[in-house]
Amino acid sequence: MPQENKFPVLKVRDLTTQLQIGQEKWTVVDHLGFDLYRGQTLALVGESGCGKSLTALSIMRILPHPPALPPTGEVLYQGHNLLTIPEKEMRRIRGAKIAMIFQDPMSALNPVYSIGNQLIEVAELHLGLFGEEAWNKASEALKAVGIPDAEERLSAYPHQLSGGLKQRVMIAMAMMCEPDILIADEPTTALDVTIQAQVLELIRHLQRKKGMSLLLITHDMGVVAEMADEVIVMYMAQGIERGKIEDVFEHRAHPYTKGLFQSRPSLDKRQKKLQPIRGQVPTFRHIPSGCRFHPRCPYVMDKCKQGHVPDFTLEPLTHVAKCWLYDGTSESQERKEEA
Ligand SMILES: Nc1ncnc2c1ncn2[C@@H]1O[C@H](COP(=O)(O)OP(=O)(O)OP(=O)(O)O)[C@@H](O)[C@H]1O
Ligand SMILES: [Mg+2]
Repeated sequence: MPQENKFPVLKVRDLTTQLQIGQEKWTVVDHLGFDLYRGQTLALVGESGCGKSLTALSIMRILPHPPALPPTGEVLYQGHNLLTIPEKEMRRIRGAKIAMIFQDPMSALNPVYSIGNQLIEVAELHLGLFGEEAWNKASEALKAVGIPDAEERLSAYPHQLSGGLKQRVMIAMAMMCEPDILIADEPTTALDVTIQAQVLELIRHLQRKKGMSLLLITHDMGVVAEMADEVIVMYMAQGIERGKIEDVFEHRAHPYTKGLFQSRPSLDKRQKKLQPIRGQVPTFRHIPSGCRFHPRCPYVMDKCKQGHVPDFTLEPLTHVAKCWLYDGTSESQERKEEA
């Protein structure tokens, strides 16, 4: 969303990614659009399977082919569409200008090479450092993420490290080239609570220091509240609500967003049980017509069941929701009050 005095480092427009599953094509990222501003954090949230990781992989251009087909739309970085530039140019950007922390650290770390070898490779490839200089850079990178005995750790192999350490090594690798943009896919989900807090603090520290922008993928609203400036709520491949964190948290405009908040474990210890959103998450094989959330929505109206749902503006420039409740008609107004 355009905001005054803020510089968008990444503009994503109509990003669409399909998977070829047998004879079928599943659209797993559907016309997604957003701006990521310098130094800011944009969170991408939504239930498991809604397309968060595939969005990240589409931006980085590292989708698994097959089943993924080449994504369409625009991912604009420094005036170039990353979806169409030659792979050779993309290789200079990936890891150096736009880095990623993966949901599973082992998809970033190679089990057969030592940590040092892998960090040195990044230093050689992107920073043009060799020999002792590359080694020193690698050891510095480990120290920067708070890994003690960095020199010793360089000769370790990924399987010799705990989950938390592997996560830190991956962050070290991602941060080594001081990227403009970090995409962090569930950076803390696999970690225990104390390490989670440390890793988030570490990312925030590096962000402040380098002015890096962060695209943070998570399904933890607590993490969103702590880290993000803006949030996109994703449901079945679509961005269904987008806005400044305070707007989205306060108004929870889309009924799905309301559901997501209710399904968080309550801070009140008496109510420990999650409140799941009613109904089943539909599969990409059977996408509901109209609003994809309508079969589960407590506010459903006839107009929700067919056709395309536009984005309605709740707060000019800062808050939109893909939901007929905000079309300004008296029917929708009444429905909001009844439900
Ligand atoms: N290699 C694959 N083959 C078939 N289907 C896939 C593949 N990768 C992803 N999908 C499907 O695409 C959809 C989106 O997947 P994605 O990994 O982006 O979800 P996600 O939002 O990251 O979920 P999670 O929160 O569980 O990480 C899911 O329904 C998933 O089942
Ligand atoms: Mg994922």
